[in-house]
Amino acid sequence: MKKIASVLSMIVLIMSCSNDDNYEPTTFENPELDLNIPADFPLLNSSFYDNIPTTYGVELGEKLFTEKRFSIDNSVSCSSCHIQTSAFADHNSLAIGVEGRVGLRNTPPLQNLAFMNFYNWDGSKLQLENQPLVPIITHEEMDSSILEVIGKIENDPEYEDLFEKAYGDEDVTADRIYNSIAQYEYTLISANSKYDRIQRNEGETYTTDEAQGALIFEQKCASCHSTALFTDQSFRNIGFPINPNTEEAGRARVTGDIEDYMSFRVPTLRNIEHTAPYGSFGQFETLRAVLDYFDNGVIASDNLDPILKDNNNRIPLTEEEKTNLIAFLTTLSDNEFLGLEY
Ligand code: HEC
Ligand code: HEC
Repeated sequence: MKKIASVLSMIVLIMSCSNDDNYEPTTFENPELDLNIPADFPLLNSSFYDNIPTTYGVELGEKLFTEKRFSIDNSVSCSSCHIQTSAFADHNSLAIGVEGRVGLRNTPPLQNLAFMNFYNWDGSKLQLENQPLVPIITHEEMDSSILEVIGKIENDPEYEDLFEKAYGDEDVTADRIYNSIAQYEYTLISANSKYDRIQRNEGETYTTDEAQGALIFEQKCASCHSTALFTDQSFRNIGFPINPNTEEAGRARVTGDIEDYMSFRVPTLRNIEHTAPYGSFGQFETLRAVLDYFDNGVIASDNLDPILKDNNNRIPLTEEEKTNLIAFLTTLSDNEFLGLEY
């Protein structure tokens, strides 16, 4: 900050020495946003501190997030697949990009990512700033390039204005694009579900079914779907049906380690009511189908998670427990975040 202040005062000094009397100094006003970070959430990803969301950085990021010119034929934006009312996921089994091309995996929700240390189903990215290039260049998603994107938007007056406001001049650079999208994503915090309000003692209470479901969740799910994010961010093979696409190997795609074959990052369960279908390639239509699958028994393998292996490859659940679990999971819906009536 000190450094910036001294650079600024130097600029002012230089300007005041110039003999252009009509010069009106413009102030670079772009305050940091106050994010309202929930007290019970885990630590922020450390890259957040190198790219702290600002008023105009976030405004620019949000605009870029809905920019269809990111795709080769100007038809697909980030928000084509990441839709707010679905917690920034969608309802396709597999992601669908330009020309209806079908991708490898199900589109995950974008929420509370500022608190995550691994991104994507296999944790292939460690920083949000490194992620936006992936969909831009992926053949099945936007099939473009960053130079093409910059070329398409750099002379657009709306962007010139926003880049200037966010970064002090109108230069459209790759890093500014990535950083502002990441800043926008940092603001996508979901922490106002019924569950959260009960945790904060704000006067609401669970129904009997929800309360029963919360107890079962504690016993049978919370060892993996833990913390306020409902994920411990570990990678595990839980024996879900296997993606027929031979490109898939789960976490082993990143590590090359056979021990990680078909392991996936434990997904959050927040807003899960709104993100069907489920699983890494959308193999389950409903939450009930996921629970039936756990109950009937999962696919055995050498690296199956011990929690399942030590229990005959299953998580036994009665029909009543399933109903109650689903009732509890529904309390994780945050209508304010989803932009729905609440
Ligand atoms: C064609 C649909 C599609 C488009 C377009 C798309 N995404 Fe995604 N997004 C996905 C899928 C599928 C994944 C999961 C990829 C994986 O696990 O390999 C994903 C993963 C992500 C993640 C990681 C989420 C997590 O839980 O770790 C972020 C962040 C993200 N996308 C942001 C973006 C941004 C920003 C854009 C625009 C530049 C974008 N996406 C465009 C489908 C899409
Ligand atoms: C051993 C760790 C573990 C346990 C225990 C566990 N899960 Fe999961 N869960 C995972 C992992 C890992 C995935 C992703 C697996 C995949 O897609 O292949 C997952 C996926 C899910 C999904 C799909 C999420 C989505 O966005 O697609 C739901 C729903 C779910 N689990 C609910 C539960 C419930 C309810 C329980 C308790 C009955 C439970 N899980 C117990 C690790 C676990």
